[in-house]
Amino acid sequence: MKLLVTGGAGFIGSAVVRQAIAAGHEVVNLDALTYAACLANLAEVEDSPRYAFEQADIRDRAALDKVFALHAPDAVMHLAAESHVDRSIDGPSDFVDTNITGTFNMLEAARKFWAAVGKPGRFRFHHVSTDEVYGSLPADKSVLFTETTAYDPRSPYSASKAASDHLVRAWHETYGLPVVLSNCSNNYGPYHFPEKLIPVVILNALAGKALPIYGDGSNIRDWLYVEDHAAALLCVLQKGQNGRRYNIGGENERSNLELVETLCEILDQKRPRQDGKPYRDQITFVTDRPGHDARYAIDPSRIRSELGWRPSVTVEEGLAKTVQWYLDNEDWWRALQDRNGVGARLGVSA
Ligand SMILES: NC(=O)c1ccc[n+]([C@@H]2O[C@H](COP(=O)([O-])OP(=O)(O)OC[C@H]3O[C@@H](n4cnc5c(N)ncnc54)[C@H](O)[C@@H]3O)[C@@H](O)[C@H]2O)c1
Repeated sequence: MKLLVTGGAGFIGSAVVRQAIAAGHEVVNLDALTYAACLANLAEVEDSPRYAFEQADIRDRAALDKVFALHAPDAVMHLAAESHVDRSIDGPSDFVDTNITGTFNMLEAARKFWAAVGKPGRFRFHHVSTDEVYGSLPADKSVLFTETTAYDPRSPYSASKAASDHLVRAWHETYGLPVVLSNCSNNYGPYHFPEKLIPVVILNALAGKALPIYGDGSNIRDWLYVEDHAAALLCVLQKGQNGRRYNIGGENERSNLELVETLCEILDQKRPRQDGKPYRDQITFVTDRPGHDARYAIDPSRIRSELGWRPSVTVEEGLAKTVQWYLDNEDWWRALQDRNGVGARLGVSA
C-alpha cells in the first residue's frame, strides 16, 4: 500500500513510518517540520526507495492538492497536529489553525483526490486522535472511556482534536469518504520530544535538576508504548471497518506520581546517582496545570476483540526500554534541548 502519513517527523508519526516501511509499504511523509519535528527519527528509513518526504503545511490547501496528485496514495494516516496541552493553554490559535482547519484541508484534499480516482471503496482516511476528547473520568476504576463515551474536551488541545474528529465523521456521513478513527491514551517511548513528562523526568534526573510534578501528582493516565500504538494504527488502517472508531489503550493506569517514582527506580538501577541517593529525592511538586483532567482510562475491548490487537510490552518493560533508549541516545535529545520553549514551564498563563 502507498500511505500518505502526515506528521511523520513527530514522535508517533515517525514510529508509524518506520513500522510501515519495515512492513513493506510505500510511505510519503508530509510534515511542516515545526519545533516538534525531528527528521533524525527517520534515519533508518530515509534511504529506502519506498520512502519519500514532502515538506508541506496542512494549513496550505494548495500544497496538499499537489502532494495528493503527485503521489496518489491508497490511504492517508493523519497525525500532523499541535500536540502539547501546555502550549495550547499559552497559544490556542495554532491549535485551532492546524488541528481544525488543517484537518479540514486534509479532508477536502483527500475528498477531491478520491473523487478524481473514481471513489475507490478501499481508500481510507485514518484520523489519529486522542482519548482527551472524552474529558476527565472519576476515580472509580470501573468507569472507562468507550467508543460511545460522549465528547467533553476541556483543554484547547483536546477541544481542537474533538472538533477535528467531528469533521472526519461528517465527511464520512455527508460525502461518503471512507474513514477510520482512533482515539489513543498517552504514549511514551523512544523519540519522545523532550518537553513531555517522561523525557522531562529522565533528562532532569540525569542533569540533577528538579523533577516537576503538577499539583499533587494524583492525575491518572493510561500509558501505551509508542511502538504498540504504531502497530495498532497500522492494524486499524488495514483491518478496521469503514466509518468505525477504535479506542487504543494499554490498560496501564498510573498516577503521575507513581509513574515518576517508577522512572526514578529504573534510573537508580541503570545509572545510580554519584552520591548514592535515590532520584526520588529530586521530585518537586509545582503549580497545577489549569483545567488538569483528573483521570483518563481506555476500554480497548473493541480493537482487541474485533481486530486482534494487543500491546507487546507491559508498562514496566516499556519504561525500562525507554529509559535505556534515552541513556543510549544522548546526541538525539541534546540537539533538541535548545528548541523554543523546551525546558521552560509552559501553560500557567490562564
Ligand atoms: N502523544 C500522545 O500521547 C498522543 C496520544 C494520542 C493521540 N495523539 C495524536 O497523535 C498525533 C501525533 O502526536 P505526536 O505526539 O507524535 O505529536 P508531535 O508533536 O510529536 O508531532 C507532530 C508532527 O506534526 C507536524 N505538524 C505540526 N503542525 C503541522 C502542520 N501545520 N502541517 C504539517 N505538519 C505539522 C510536526 O512538525 C510534527 O512532526 C497527534 O494528532 C496527536 O493528537 C498523541
